[in-house]
Amino acid sequence: MKSYIAALVVFFFIWCYIGKAAKGERLGASFIFGDSIVDAGNNNYLPSLSKANIPPNGIDFKASGGNPTGRYTNGRTICDIVGEELGVPNYAVPFLAPNSTGKAILYGVNYASGAGGILNASGRIFVNRLGLDIQVDYFNITRKQIDSLLGPSQARDFLMKTSIFSVTIGANDFLNNYLLPVVSIGSRITQSPDAFINDMITRFSGQLIRLYQLDARKIVIANVGPIGCIPYQKTLYQSNEDECVELPNKLALHYNAKLKDLLTELNENLPGATFVLANVYDLVSDIIINYENYGFTTSGKACCGNGGRYAGIIPCGPTSSLCSDHSSHVFWDPYHPSEATNLIIAKKLLDGDTKIISPMNLRQLRDL
Ligand SMILES: *[C@@H]1O[C@H](CO)[C@@H](O)[C@H](O)[C@H]1NC(C)=O
Ligand SMILES: *[C@@H]1O[C@H](CO)[C@@H](O)[C@H](O)[C@H]1NC(C)=O
Ligand SMILES: *[C@@H]1O[C@H](CO)[C@@H](O)[C@H](O)[C@H]1NC(C)=O
Repeated sequence: MKSYIAALVVFFFIWCYIGKAAKGERLGASFIFGDSIVDAGNNNYLPSLSKANIPPNGIDFKASGGNPTGRYTNGRTICDIVGEELGVPNYAVPFLAPNSTGKAILYGVNYASGAGGILNASGRIFVNRLGLDIQVDYFNITRKQIDSLLGPSQARDFLMKTSIFSVTIGANDFLNNYLLPVVSIGSRITQSPDAFINDMITRFSGQLIRLYQLDARKIVIANVGPIGCIPYQKTLYQSNEDECVELPNKLALHYNAKLKDLLTELNENLPGATFVLANVYDLVSDIIINYENYGFTTSGKACCGNGGRYAGIIPCGPTSSLCSDHSSHVFWDPYHPSEATNLIIAKKLLDGDTKIISPMNLRQLRDL
């Protein structure tokens, strides 16, 4: 009997091991581009007014023991969670951090920057931030470092086959550029929404083609979320708690439709590339409308800094109000989702169907 059980146990382990290996390898690295939704600390190193390395940001982030890291949320970002789930052993290091050198970059690098946008002018009220042009310039530097770590041919394989690139950007081009009440009145007077969005798409196309030229092949692009539904916009326009502001959402939808066409075109024209569209707009809209079904108590109020003293510039800081149950709120601060929301989003992107992530989900993209 004993040996029978021992044999069964051994068989079980072998079966698990083979099962795991056959299911595809771990993701090698994650290269992250974008704005504050996925910034993991780059702005800590910039003289910027957009900062998140102050408490209580990071209060639920285990890896730092609850200390702020520069993430604009209470815990992990969507990219942190996706990286963990796909088997990357470490979080991608911020490009501007001193330890983004040597072998650490082989787990990936994060170039995202709070207040950054597709257009260089976006976010300039925050003085300093990395726009997407500069983020791609920085990846070009990393690209050369990977060449010297692995040798040119292995470096190409590493980037093309075992790395995922993600780009989460566009919200600041509206919130901190086109829609800004004062600073950019110029561009709003001189440009129709259509012309502005066409500029964004043209620039974005060029930026994505540059990533392709630098050997990115598996590329996930998030569309712009329902930016008219974030607490910041609700406060600004004094809408009811369960009502969204119309214009920002209309602009986001208009942009998202053109983004979808752009990615279809890039998939047709760039051999070997897989551009995956993450439909964050529909996903987050559903969470905001049906928040109770997801276990939240509110989607209209932020957990930290709702209506705080520095609302807008430092949305969540030591003097802000703070809710007691951080996972009961869809929004952590007036702009950014809580870790609880990030978890829901990440799971859908990893395993969801083509309504949310197309033409394939992130697990399928990894195993491609
Ligand atoms: C890089 O430094 C940060 C901040 O000190 C730390 O949290 C992180 O674990 C380090 N990452 C690596 C890969 O060394
Ligand atoms: C934006 O800035 C980058 C980096 O400084 C520069 O290369 C690029 O030409 C600029 N783009 C525009 C449209 O001015
Ligand atoms: C990367 O940098 C090199 C110069 O070191 C430059 O020649 C090349 O055009 C850059 N590539 C991209 C896609 O920006």
